[in-house]
Amino acid sequence: MALIGVFDSGVGGLSILDEALDQLPEHDYIYLADSANAPYGERSSEWIAARSLALCQHLAHEGCDAIVVACNTATAQAIKDIRLKINIPIIGVEPGIKPAAMQSLNGIVGVLATEATLSSDKFNALLATLPPHCRFIKQAGAGLVPLIEAGKADGEDTLELLAKHLEPIQDAGADTLVLGCTHYPFLRKAIRKLLGGSITLIDTSEAVVRQLKRQLEINTIATPEHQHGSIIFISSKDEGTLLTMAQDLMSCDLSAHYVSAQYLGGL
Ligand code: DGL
Repeated sequence: MALIGVFDSGVGGLSILDEALDQLPEHDYIYLADSANAPYGERSSEWIAARSLALCQHLAHEGCDAIVVACNTATAQAIKDIRLKINIPIIGVEPGIKPAAMQSLNGIVGVLATEATLSSDKFNALLATLPPHCRFIKQAGAGLVPLIEAGKADGEDTLELLAKHLEPIQDAGADTLVLGCTHYPFLRKAIRKLLGGSITLIDTSEAVVRQLKRQLEINTIATPEHQHGSIIFISSKDEGTLLTMAQDLMSCDLSAHYVSAQYLGGL
């Protein structure tokens, strides 16, 4: 059985943890939310890189066999350095622009992500590899993460702000929307309310967990069948709130796992 670290600036990575518990329920998990410092998306590259590395080093010291950087922003700004400095499998998350380009019928794709992701070299290098037939409408989702962190994913304020951010994407006639931040899958309901049911929503959590599974297999970390492992929820802000939000936001039945919560002090 492996111990898997899942790290995000806040509650967004719970969308990845949810998928991981679905595909790989037998492992033990530590979920680390840096909610005291969220959002990362409007911070400097240097800050994001240093903080993400420190938190992943903390997870490695806790004995993790693999770490999922369940944050597009941290992946874009920090994963290269994290992989250089920590010698265990490190799995990242990137906006699914490739699958979006393949699935779009009219070649117009909206990409909703943080400013730090959209302006990163990593994202722009990925964009440059895609065939030119597809048009990407890039939109920074400024202000959305704090609303989701405050438990208002379905609230009126969120709907109003989201409507503004989606306007250019809607006006361009996009038939596909990339959810390029792990917090945004929690806006599915609001997005459907605003854009209707016909737009294709792309979120890469399933593919990320498949990649985690492959890495565990390559590194021959044994997986006993039909068991439910433990989950430790660690927050730099308020571990009780993190646990409540995990219960609210995730579809997985947490009562099947051994769950505990801790405050992240001193980091
Ligand atoms: N959940 C994050 C992402 O995937 C970061 C959001 C933020 O802290 O700005 O980009």
